[in-house]
Amino acid sequence: MSDPVRIIEMGPRDGLQNEKTPVSVEARIAFIEALVAAGLTTVEVGAFVSPKAIPQMASSDAVLRGVGHVEGAEFHVLVPNEKGYDAARAAGAQVVSVFAAASEGFSRANINCTVAESIERFKPVLRAKADGVRVRGYISCVLGCPFDGEIKPKVVADLANTLWELGCYEVSLGDTIGVGTPDKAKAMLRAVSANIPPAKLAMHFHDTYGQALANLYAGLEEGVRVIDAAAGGLGGCPYAPGATGNVATEDVVYMLEGMDIRTGVDMDKLLAATNEMSGVLGKPPVSRVASALNAK
Ligand code: HMG
Ligand code: MG
Repeated sequence: MSDPVRIIEMGPRDGLQNEKTPVSVEARIAFIEALVAAGLTTVEVGAFVSPKAIPQMASSDAVLRGVGHVEGAEFHVLVPNEKGYDAARAAGAQVVSVFAAASEGFSRANINCTVAESIERFKPVLRAKADGVRVRGYISCVLGCPFDGEIKPKVVADLANTLWELGCYEVSLGDTIGVGTPDKAKAMLRAVSANIPPAKLAMHFHDTYGQALANLYAGLEEGVRVIDAAAGGLGGCPYAPGATGNVATEDVVYMLEGMDIRTGVDMDKLLAATNEMSGVLGKPPVSRVASALNAK
């Protein structure tokens, strides 16, 4: 249990993609730099998707170029297809993430195609390996879908296996609408781990129903050691009605450090980064830990 955990910071992408207040490229870059300075050395910084679909992620090329190369840091971006990959590559991306869904309803709403079609769209992206670019894979709706309801662990396991066999170096399992509970999270992770080592999985849990930390704890017990989280608990997916942000990075760091699991994150600096973005957005962070520390 005490093995270190790697946190992938989602604030600048998953966090900002659903915010009504436009955030400038400069403010996005400053946010990323502050997160890296806090010890969050892996940050998802943007998405090369249609700006008509997600205007908040427009100019992700300028953001990626703006953060440039930082020794010891790794910047990720989402790409849904070859067009996105080419643009990400031109902007200097070293790690790109493709994103599929465990349900047809969400796949259609989010990326306008069936699950099988999405896999076909990812195949040209996997040539990234020849360019020296690593590809991460996401699966949305692993514990429930806003359109199709319950999702069977085997469906998630089969799709994870497909992404793994295509060459993704890690598969991130998204509870997009935060409906999961610990036993369900465990059952899903056990099914996926039948084919993929737990060390190659990530947990990407949204906190809509306040279950994310409990689900993460259950996943840690299963040996998963990568957690996607967003500073301040920012965000949500525009195509997942009612879903709130990722589990807050502050809440995850507080829990892990309290369990003597090292994260390498400086809480004061993280809180400063969160508060700065909260000022830009004009609303307080939803993170319980950030609220508690701010009230001190
Ligand atoms: P489409 O309509 O099927 O694609 O959209 P298309 O090929 O017919 O193209 C339509 C238009 O999009 C064209 O432009 C293309 O050029 C353009 P137009 O001729 O209308 O001006 N286009 C692009 N533009 C920029 N970058 C691209 C790109 N591809 C096509 N890569 C598409 C398919 C995927 C593009 C669209 O549905 C889309 O962008 N959707 C947004 C999906 C998204 O970003 N969702 C949120 C992120 S996923 C998430 O949050 C879940 C996650 O956090 C895990 C979890 O929590 O579960 C990862
Ligand atoms: Mg998400």
